[in-house]
Amino acid sequence: MARPLLVSFVAGASGPWRIDRVESVTGDGLQPAERLTVLEGSEFDPVESPRWTLRGVTSNTRYTNRSESGALLAKQQGLHRPHATRAALIPIRKTADWWDLPQDERRSIFEEQSSHIGIGLEYLPAIARRLLHSRDLAQPFDFLTWFEYAPEHSDIFEELVRRLRSSSEWQYVDREIDIRLVRA
Ligand code: HEM
Repeated sequence: MARPLLVSFVAGASGPWRIDRVESVTGDGLQPAERLTVLEGSEFDPVESPRWTLRGVTSNTRYTNRSESGALLAKQQGLHRPHATRAALIPIRKTADWWDLPQDERRSIFEEQSSHIGIGLEYLPAIARRLLHSRDLAQPFDFLTWFEYAPEHSDIFEELVRRLRSSSEWQYVDREIDIRLVRA
């Protein structure tokens, strides 16, 4: 497992990603902005007076078991594929009830009841993903999720988010914003 990598999402007037649409799925939204820059590590912020910045770190897995890790590794592809010119940044916060649960009960809701990994696997390798943890950085969200896909996979990505949002896991989500981007 690589060391944690700090990733910052900076919204403002400049950046390689154009913000196409922003939907507040649950809870408060974010200020509108035109473009987004994704910075890895402690790269200097090139955006002047950003509208907002969200930060998270990559981390070790919490829920994935050995056979699921193997299945993910065999199917998934990395970020930055040239044809993957569409992206989604979905910041998510979970309720105090979720965080009060013991680890085994969270795992059971996440996979045995909601099939998060089982459903997700169906969409690999079309959708590439990165999960960032924000909760321990005292950020407004617990997770920043980032996905990259080709334009022809936009419809299956909609299906994927619909399926996950109707799962029991999502009953513990109390803030979610869906930000869609185009690399242009
Ligand atoms: C966590 C897989 C799509 C939101 C995870 C984990 C896996 C996974 C394996 C657990 C990591 C761990 O063990 O700690 C996938 C796959 C997807 C997918 C294969 C298909 C592309 C999505 C989508 C969303 C999402 C579309 C948001 C709409 C999350 C969140 C977590 C998570 C918030 C953290 C849950 C927690 O720790 O409580 N995902 N996922 N995932 N995923 Fe997904």
